Amino acid sequence: MKVEWQHTDKNAPIGVFDSGVGGLTVVREIMRQIPNEKIIYFGDTARVPYGSKSKETVTRFSKQIVRFLNTFQVKTIVVACNTASAYALAELERESDIPIIGVVKPGARVASEVTHNGRIGVIATEATIGSKIYNQYLTLLNKDVTIYGKACPLFVPLVEEGLWVDPVTDEIAKRYLTELIDLDIDTLILGCTHYPLIRSTLGRIMGEKVTLVNPAYETARELKELLTRMDLLGDHAPVLGENQYQFYVSDMAEKFKSFANSIIKYGILSAKTIHIEEYYTDER
Ligand code: DGL
Repeated sequence: MKVEWQHTDKNAPIGVFDSGVGGLTVVREIMRQIPNEKIIYFGDTARVPYGSKSKETVTRFSKQIVRFLNTFQVKTIVVACNTASAYALAELERESDIPIIGVVKPGARVASEVTHNGRIGVIATEATIGSKIYNQYLTLLNKDVTIYGKACPLFVPLVEEGLWVDPVTDEIAKRYLTELIDLDIDTLILGCTHYPLIRSTLGRIMGEKVTLVNPAYETARELKELLTRMDLLGDHAPVLGENQYQFYVSDMAEKFKSFANSIIKYGILSAKTIHIEEYYTDER
């Protein structure tokens, strides 16, 4: 069902969602680049991971979340999850009148700009790699690039366990990345929103000749451009205590809050649990 309502309120919030905590790396960039904006974040902590689920399931979950975010009359939505961007973005865009942006296209664009030898690696969940979405965008931007995808399913649990700098993470990263090093890539897309949190490990293993691309930065930049173009950039500096940032999850709010506080320097005051299944869609 198409949302029929068009936004005009510059100071309406932005909706951001992810399967869990990974999207906070995108929120962090939005906070840095457009600090006036209000954000409603939803992390689907009850149903994470999305990376091992089917396209149909991830699309159904994503539609429920969009419906929830729309109850806040958000002016735009950022799909801060590569898997949901790969599987559901096209359908979400078709059904919504407010702009919805994902993280894949911005990441692909910057990678196609920074590569010198045209050999680009993508690391992501099994779903994102299997969808070949990065390949599609990258070859549209530059048909001469060669793309090497590698699913790295163990990185998400390692990040969630807090093992950001740890010999175990080092060992697993070496196993995953050696083949990409041997393929002589000069650019590596961190195609999962958790991966920027182990960026230092990944950078050390890949070596300084390889440029790491964090789509979160580029997504926030694209969001700013979009809001500016639509004359929807927030123009009132937030008042202290106004609850500029609100966090919702589908489970384990306290655990989410302490994780979020290790990523975002603003201090997450609260995270509320909601029943996301109540925002069912027609095809449920
Ligand atoms: N946030 C997901 C992504 O960016 C990774 C975690 C998951 O599998 O749900 O693909």
